[in-house]
Amino acid sequence: MGEATSTLERPAAPLWNQSGFAATWDQKVKRAFEIGPKYYALDLPRYIWHRLSLGLSPWDWGALLVNPLREFRRVVYYRPGLPPRYGEALKLFEEKGIQIGMPRPRLESLLGVWWETRGVAGDYIECGACSGATAMLVALLGKWNGVVQRTLMLDTFEGTPIVSRYDPYRTLGEYRLPADQVAVIEQQCRALGIDDRVEVHKGLFSETFPRLAARDLHFAFVHIDANVYPSTLEACRFALPRVRPGGAAVFDDYNGLCDLGARLAIDEFLAGSGKRPQRLAECSAYLRF
Ligand SMILES: C[S@@+](CC[C@H](N)C(=O)[O-])C[C@H]1O[C@@H](n2cnc3c(N)ncnc32)[C@H](O)[C@@H]1O
Repeated sequence: MGEATSTLERPAAPLWNQSGFAATWDQKVKRAFEIGPKYYALDLPRYIWHRLSLGLSPWDWGALLVNPLREFRRVVYYRPGLPPRYGEALKLFEEKGIQIGMPRPRLESLLGVWWETRGVAGDYIECGACSGATAMLVALLGKWNGVVQRTLMLDTFEGTPIVSRYDPYRTLGEYRLPADQVAVIEQQCRALGIDDRVEVHKGLFSETFPRLAARDLHFAFVHIDANVYPSTLEACRFALPRVRPGGAAVFDDYNGLCDLGARLAIDEFLAGSGKRPQRLAECSAYLRF
């Protein structure tokens, strides 16, 4: 895979970067027909087998009763009120040339759930921050609305570092970013005036979590968006036990047709806890603590 171009060198781009997912109706239908038959013929039987091998119940109705055409629609299942000054924050992002890679329905539902946790004492952690736009938006809205909270962004910033046999659709190096991405994020944080509340942790989760474990961290909000089984399981093991009562977690990939590995990891971690993620928007899900 070739080196991605630095954000600093790129010409002005639209606020919503739709290159990472099927954005138009044609693309969605095409994708649904590409993935749908294979999902039922191959992926689902394999997934059920994986669930059994991990000691999980095979009756996962959320994965069994999937309509591939519906999966690619912009469906919002739960959207609480957006934080004040959200529109203003988007304008500032546009002005500063910061692109948002997450689809709008998912982003706005996530922000709504995050806003509901604003009274909980604890930080925001994003395991799989990629370009950092989602986390920066949370940090900006937190600052403008007086939420006392640090924002932790974790990523290799070099793309997906590991895939397992549970992740047939995922490839090494997917979501790879320009080599100077951390410098770009730091510069963007300064431009937004949020550098005092953002921490960027570049590296594998398996390297970062032991360092963070030495601190007495608690989270009001956990955002897990790593797509693959091993990373998602690591993120659940580190972050979820540190969520304070009243806090929440959003799993960006829980209902993704191509992310059954991430779903397996979340279900494996939550097995026996009586907790089950609820549908949020498109493929994302949330959990309250
Ligand atoms: C879909 S992207 C995240 C998108 C981002 N949350 C957003 O809102 O735009 C998934 C990211 O997870 C990261 N990732 C996956 N496994 C990881 C691991 N074990 N350690 C560090 N980063 C990881 C990848 O590098 C990739 O950037």
